Amino acid sequence: MSVDVLLGLQWGDEGKGKIVDVLAPQYHMVARFQGGPNAGHTLEFDGIKHVLHQIPSGIFRSDIKNVIGNGVVLDPVIFRKEVEALNQRGVDVKSNLFVSNRAHLIFPTHGLLDACYEQSKGNQKIGSTLKGIGPTYQDKIARVGLRVGDILATDFKSRYRSLVERHQSVLNFYEFPHDLEEKEDVFFQSIDYLRQFHITDTAYLVNHALSDNQTVLAEGAQGSLLDIDFGSYPFVTSSNTMIAGVCSGLGIAPSRIKEVYGIFKAYCTRVGSGPFPTELLDETGEKLRKVGQEYGATTGRPRRCGWLDLPALKYAIMINGATQLFMMKADVLNDFEDIKVCTHYKLSNGDITDELPYDIKRQEIEPVYHTLSGWKQALDGMENFGQMPHELVQYVNYLEEQLQVPIGIVSIGPDREQTIKRAEISTG
Ligand code: GDP
Ligand code: IMO
Ligand code: MG
Repeated sequence: MSVDVLLGLQWGDEGKGKIVDVLAPQYHMVARFQGGPNAGHTLEFDGIKHVLHQIPSGIFRSDIKNVIGNGVVLDPVIFRKEVEALNQRGVDVKSNLFVSNRAHLIFPTHGLLDACYEQSKGNQKIGSTLKGIGPTYQDKIARVGLRVGDILATDFKSRYRSLVERHQSVLNFYEFPHDLEEKEDVFFQSIDYLRQFHITDTAYLVNHALSDNQTVLAEGAQGSLLDIDFGSYPFVTSSNTMIAGVCSGLGIAPSRIKEVYGIFKAYCTRVGSGPFPTELLDETGEKLRKVGQEYGATTGRPRRCGWLDLPALKYAIMINGATQLFMMKADVLNDFEDIKVCTHYKLSNGDITDELPYDIKRQEIEPVYHTLSGWKQALDGMENFGQMPHELVQYVNYLEEQLQVPIGIVSIGPDREQTIKRAEISTG
């Protein structure tokens, strides 16, 4: 069978965790293909709220296999905490989770290097989550990193030590104060813990499942505008968050991919630095943040908020070939008289465009807005699209017309149940 992909079309935090959890029962397997504990994916059901960082969001469904693919960078310390928190909720992680032996390991020194590089950037900081993501991918590309499979080798400690020495020479060069001893104790205990899990070649696992007529949902982390190649570089993360990352991060062929679900909020948010053309620094932005509870699931930082940005969304749809769209957090707009949508950018030379410029940060961009009427009512208890207020239907219709891709889900609250499917979602 085939692989369907769920990926973020904005700057992350679109609600990927919620939707993967909602769709998971339609699949045999859920697989994360990139990123690491910089992600924070929130799930809510039966009155509980759970945030996952590295473990796929299918983990609460006991009959589904969950895979951490080779494209992920894994922090064993955070992994252990995540598993223990899930065990406390009665989730059997061990039997349903498969970790790629090719996934690269995040060491304590990767986190220190992240902080050190950020500090050295002065006022050009990326606003990294400081989870060691960039330095770990850097080692992977430099061909010096260590992988999960290496923890099973007898010389793991000595290989660990020689990489750490390289890291320390950089930290010393920057005169970055660090104390590793305590962190290393916890790290090695967590490595021992990780050894008990299914560590395997997940490319075979996934491809054998596909050959056995099973379906796979690939779960993205971050969002397309944080993609290392196509995002707002350098204010991006260090992996391919877009569709291409699915093939390289799981070991599957492009011809295996069927549906590409692109997920976006009914407005925009961004956490960390970097360009954000529709950002609202006024009370409207503050209202979006307050009503949408826009605070980072990983770092707790307030998220920057603004109106929906169609040029950026069209670009993300284009590079990913999104076949269906899911619109999240519609309920956050319940109490707005008017809702604005940016349709074009006016550039500093007077040109008007609906394309994303190469280097947004040096461009003076003025968003050109289209205004729609708000619905000014709560959506609580609504169960189908027919019950939606007229203005919300108009908003969805307008976006479909602009984006030329159907919007299959409108989400009206954080809970699993607060999910309006406009039609049956077609799956691979
Ligand atoms: P992810 O990283 O894409 O999984 O998204 P996050 O979990 O970081 O952020 C999304 C936040 O919005 C979480 O707190 C979710 O519980 C919440 N959320 C998801 N869908 C909705 C929705 O439709 N309405 C509201 N109000 N909150 C939602
Ligand atoms: P999920 O999967 C939102 C942002 C950081 C920073 C930049 C680089 O929950 O959507 P990094 O730690 O990768 O060096 O940070 O990317 N960022 C995210 N923003 N959601 C995320 O993940 C993010 N992961 C990283 O804030 O600006
Ligand atoms: Mg998140």
